[in-house]
Amino acid sequence: MKTLIKNGTVVNSTGRGQADVLLDGETIAAVLAPGSSLLGFDIEANVDRVIDAAGKYVIPGGIDAHTHMEMPFGGTNASDTFETGTRAAAHGGTTSIVDFVVQYAGEHVHDQFQLWHEKAAGNCAIDYGFHQILSDVQDSSLTAMDELISEGVSSFKLFMAYKGVFLSDDGQIVKAMQKAASNGSMIMMHAENGSVIDLLVQQAIAAGNTSPYYHGLTRPWQAEEEATHRAIMLANLTGAPLFVVHVSAKQAVEQIAIARDRGQNVFGETCPQYLYLSLEDQLGAESSEWGTFEGAKWVCSTPLRSKAEGHQHHMWQSLRTNDIQMVSTDHCPFCMKGQKDMGLADFSKIPNGIGSVEHRMDLLYQGVVDGQLSLERWVEVTSTTPARMFGMYGTKGVIQPGADGDIVVYDPNGHTSIGVGKTHHMNMDYSAWEGYEIDGHVDTVISRGKVVVDGNEYLGTAGDGRYVKRGLSQYLI
Ligand code: URP
Ligand code: ZN
Ligand code: ZN
Repeated sequence: MKTLIKNGTVVNSTGRGQADVLLDGETIAAVLAPGSSLLGFDIEANVDRVIDAAGKYVIPGGIDAHTHMEMPFGGTNASDTFETGTRAAAHGGTTSIVDFVVQYAGEHVHDQFQLWHEKAAGNCAIDYGFHQILSDVQDSSLTAMDELISEGVSSFKLFMAYKGVFLSDDGQIVKAMQKAASNGSMIMMHAENGSVIDLLVQQAIAAGNTSPYYHGLTRPWQAEEEATHRAIMLANLTGAPLFVVHVSAKQAVEQIAIARDRGQNVFGETCPQYLYLSLEDQLGAESSEWGTFEGAKWVCSTPLRSKAEGHQHHMWQSLRTNDIQMVSTDHCPFCMKGQKDMGLADFSKIPNGIGSVEHRMDLLYQGVVDGQLSLERWVEVTSTTPARMFGMYGTKGVIQPGADGDIVVYDPNGHTSIGVGKTHHMNMDYSAWEGYEIDGHVDTVISRGKVVVDGNEYLGTAGDGRYVKRGLSQYLI
């Protein structure tokens, strides 16, 4: 199958230009001056399919490096399966995800890795890789860190919160970091001070403050800044590279920026919810169906932060200045009925997570329209950097000959109305983004040479997606 995408503006993180893109099978064969022939050979007459991208952007497929499909968490499972979640991702212009294999206490890393392969294989609409969550840092887990690298897993997430579920103490964190420093892998950190949060939650509930709004108030920015600083110091001590996930507090960004300025390999990711949504939104959220429990729709950790305190503003700024390097969703969806409502009487029982895998490319494109990001930076934070950060660059994250044919044709004159019954393919009974209007539209999505979304129509099948064996981070030497 040969496809020509003609007349578009090709946008890579390094720049933009008018060009035609020729796909041969699963890969990009050539990026050519518009309308050119190849040594006298008429390309258009000899391809199977021509996509006219006049007036549109041709960008590398989105890479969402932080998702939790069907994750067992909070007494339930994230509501998107690998099948429904990756199909929704495809609709939104994301052509690869990196999901998290979970090891809970007492579980063996290899068993869990095998289990996640079984969940994903044959079900995914787009390509997928894995990070590994470690909740039980013991000798066999440390050995597994070496072994998993040859299986394409080069990043390991630890938690400083969720005592009794995920939390590793500082000694365990140091052990895992020492291993990462020796084998070249990346430590990803959920940086919140769990003991402080547990105490504040207990006090809030005892005082009768049980509504979802108190989720945010009991996870203050100080708990995020402190943990971020501690993680940076432990990484400094051990020489491990550190990637701080779902950063929401401006003070945590400042810690990351200081460490980077000192030359330490510290990186940070934020998520659309921290760029657009706030604690004030959550406080104001009320509906006839749920009353103030409406706020449960946006219970996630780290939590939404106060707009008045300037976190949101700072997050956009940090994306521009590269103090924060990329945007993932932390897609961890739960339905209101039967899942979030487990916390009706007690916010601490609400499963933590927001679903956004379908809307990340659009929401960040709105940042371009609003003057927050350049077009190239949009591509960089949603595709190129995730590829490079997690060892996929060259095949993913760029439009160049030899790369995978993962391409999105994006229409800046199109429009997208987000919401249930409009554009909503995630397996959730609500949208955290209901009512958001985007001045752009994902027109065509190509995954390894195959058109999987055309207009709003899904043309792919479960199993199109393939496991990506990742290398080490390409930001490290
Ligand atoms: O609320 C969140 N973030 N849920 C997913 C688990 C995690 O900490 O990433
Ligand atoms: Zn986390
Ligand atoms: Zn997460």
